[in-house]
Amino acid sequence: MIVLGIYGSPRKGGNSDQLLDRALKGVAASGAEVKKIYARHIKISGCLECGGCDQTGICVQKDDMSQIYPLLEESNVIILATPIFFYSPPAQIKAIIDRAQACWAKRFLTKPPEARKRHDSGIGYLIAIGATKGKKLFDCTKLVAKYFFDALDMAYGGDLLIRGVEKKSDILKRSDALDAAYELGKKAARAEQVGSTLL
Ligand SMILES: Cc1cc2nc3c(=O)[nH]c(=O)nc-3n(C[C@H](O)[C@H](O)[C@H](O)COP(=O)(O)O)c2cc1C
Repeated sequence: MIVLGIYGSPRKGGNSDQLLDRALKGVAASGAEVKKIYARHIKISGCLECGGCDQTGICVQKDDMSQIYPLLEESNVIILATPIFFYSPPAQIKAIIDRAQACWAKRFLTKPPEARKRHDSGIGYLIAIGATKGKKLFDCTKLVAKYFFDALDMAYGGDLLIRGVEKKSDILKRSDALDAAYELGKKAARAEQVGSTLL
């Protein structure tokens, strides 16, 4: 079992980093193998919408995504952790997600329509955190994450959504959120559905 943690924040050691660190501790405690991607370290362009992957399922661009695609493919579970920037994930993580268009194309090419109703490549979870407390704070990001996982042929396993945390490391004062992240990690290592937790 390989669990891939995707760190979505541009801010090293920030709130979503701390939550994902805690979740991956839960994963490791359950005996699964942990791998990590830091979106802030990945040098990639956005999707060119050139249609190059339509016939092959392979992106024509040669950049750091060449190392990311195999990780996305080999992982049984992905935990995506992201801050909310203008009600959506930051550009760094959105660029990775947009480049998953090649994965979407591959799934379309290799699975017949009936089989595409299923997700056969694992399960994805979302951890998201924002400063405000509005009702719709996570709506956009949840949809983005769901369809990212769908492109990877992964089911959406659920999420942990934390509101009202802004300054770097303020999350360390929220033991409820850190404990919930650890629990999510433990369940993710068993690929269990976790539903939605809003704190
Ligand atoms: C460019 C930018 C846009 C942001 N947009 C929002 C927003 O739309 N809603 C919100 O609640 N917080 C917003 N925030 C605050 C962050 O989501 C919040 O500080 C979060 O805790 C940062 O997590 P991190 O430390 O993991 O990066 C924004 C922050 C930045 C820098």
